[in-house]
Amino acid sequence: MIELWPPGEPTEVDDARLAALYAYPAGLTAPFVRVNFVSTIDGAVTLDGRSAGLGSDADRRVFGLLRQLAEVVLVGAGTVRAEDYRGARRPTRGRGTPPPIAVVTGSADLDPGSRLLTDTAVPPIVLTTDSAPAERRDRLAAAGADVVVLDRLTPGALLAELARRGLHRVLCEGGPSLFGDLVAADAVDELCLTVAPLLAGGPAGRIARGTDGSGSRSSELAGVLHEEGVLLLRYRRRSPAVEPIG
Ligand SMILES: NC(=O)c1ccc[n+]([C@@H]2O[C@H](COP(=O)([O-])OP(=O)(O)OC[C@H]3O[C@@H](n4cnc5c(N)ncnc54)[C@H](OP(=O)(O)O)[C@@H]3O)[C@@H](O)[C@H]2O)c1
Repeated sequence: MIELWPPGEPTEVDDARLAALYAYPAGLTAPFVRVNFVSTIDGAVTLDGRSAGLGSDADRRVFGLLRQLAEVVLVGAGTVRAEDYRGARRPTRGRGTPPPIAVVTGSADLDPGSRLLTDTAVPPIVLTTDSAPAERRDRLAAAGADVVVLDRLTPGALLAELARRGLHRVLCEGGPSLFGDLVAADAVDELCLTVAPLLAGGPAGRIARGTDGSGSRSSELAGVLHEEGVLLLRYRRRSPAVEPIG
């Protein structure tokens, strides 16, 4: 894997360098939201309804590292259902346990027998509301989930709950609906986007979806890595312009 950006002599990236490149800002006192996606060069986020066919060694290497750097993995229920999510395997760096998977679901329609609950070292957090049927919430709690009933599932409410638990290094793994909500709320600090050298065509959606399309957000390029035609892009929230004094 070669580092192409910031500009300079392209250099091979070892594990220590990779971890330094993707380190969260130090001393966080509020959630920092990193979002990670993989897409084809024509913008498809799935092949046959799943992201698995878009993967590569480079993407898997960074995907694994991002989980090790995160304190929580935030994900929408659609992705959990489509990808049959299970718990993260490796401990968060500096902690003894893997990051919990925090699932956003208005319906609480998650299978209590799924890998999310049966194949995990730590209980998943299920973020839902009291409009989800109580029996579904109870079944998930009985299966070991940490079920949290919030007034609303807005990005602000979700991140406030994570902050309340001291979970500041947030890794959102999608999907497009949850990411669209985060974009609309201007809650995204960083996007890690792997571009797979594939053309998919077909009906696949893009990485963000939502109803509120107003107000595009400007981002700045923070890093580019390359391996075997795969680009790993990192964009950060553009720092606010410094107002001249006087
Ligand atoms: N290429 C990639 O990197 C990548 C990454 C992730 C996902 N994907 C793909 O994306 C597809 C899933 O897309 P999706 O848009 O359905 O994914 P999603 O955002 O993971 O799931 C949407 C569902 O999550 C819940 N949800 C999300 N945000 C919510 C909010 N603010 N308030 C209430 N509920 C919320 C709702 O669940 P309930 O229906 O339970 O209420 C909603 O139906 C899958 O095919 C997956 O493979 C690809």
